[in-house]
Amino acid sequence: MRYYIITGTSRGLGKALAEALLKDSQNFVIGVSRNCTLTHDRYRHQPLDFSDIAGVEHNLHKVFGEFPDATQLVLVNNAGVLGEIGYMGQSKNEHFEFVFDVNVIVPAMFMNLFLQSYQHRSGIEKLVVNISSGAGQKAKDGWAAYCASKAALDMLSQTAQIEQDKLGTGVKVFSLSPGLIDTEMQEQIRDADPAQFSSVQQFRDFKTQGDLVTPEKVAAKVLQLMENPKLAQAVVCSVRDF
Ligand SMILES: NC(=O)c1ccc[n+]([C@@H]2O[C@H](COP(=O)([O-])OP(=O)(O)OC[C@H]3O[C@@H](n4cnc5c(N)ncnc54)[C@H](OP(=O)(O)O)[C@@H]3O)[C@@H](O)[C@H]2O)c1
Repeated sequence: MRYYIITGTSRGLGKALAEALLKDSQNFVIGVSRNCTLTHDRYRHQPLDFSDIAGVEHNLHKVFGEFPDATQLVLVNNAGVLGEIGYMGQSKNEHFEFVFDVNVIVPAMFMNLFLQSYQHRSGIEKLVVNISSGAGQKAKDGWAAYCASKAALDMLSQTAQIEQDKLGTGVKVFSLSPGLIDTEMQEQIRDADPAQFSSVQQFRDFKTQGDLVTPEKVAAKVLQLMENPKLAQAVVCSVRDF
């Protein structure tokens, strides 16, 4: 059986990915988010709020089972938030903590426990796919916390891969930019005040011009990478690369 631990499975890309995986009887999905919107005999949900670090610390071990029959173990750190769009100097201090908790601190804790639990399992494929964003490499006004959090996720991934290579565990780590996906996150972007985000019209145009990709199509690309990690040339990569 192949086991996939995926965060943010209640909607958007995470849900599409879980649904695609569940079509194969050899796949089992452990989903983690605040809400549960999936039921399946090969799906287990762990409710967790990533902005509650104490709660995550207390319950995280429940996610990482022994899975003795595993032939592949995959972690997909997909849950993410944009946070309130707004300029630095006009934001609440709690905003930065919130975005970093959900987008960096908890994904780092998930990676840490995944590696602790499975890095020395031999004879099976072990893979971490962190869902990043082009915003981690290109600054956008109004998105300071989000851009910085995705840059941090990219660097965590690169560091983890160097370490796993040195340890010779065979674990592969990616920080994958999924492109523009037609999800609630994009709705939030289109609703932004132009004074707080100068590119808002461009994102409204993306929607009307049909430039957003369905979560199902992006999920198919993520699956492609999970099936063939050699498709990506580098740890920090994009679905546009393959
Ligand atoms: N949409 C895009 O165009 C785009 C572009 C680049 C990168 N991305 C990245 O792609 C990933 C998926 O985005 P999406 O568009 O599918 O987002 P989405 O539709 O807003 O879904 C976000 C998921 O994250 C979970 N989540 C949010 N806050 C959480 C919290 N406090 N605790 C636990 N889980 C939480 C949500 O579940 P609950 O609300 O049930 O907790 C939901 O399942 C994110 O990492 C995002 O940064 C998206």
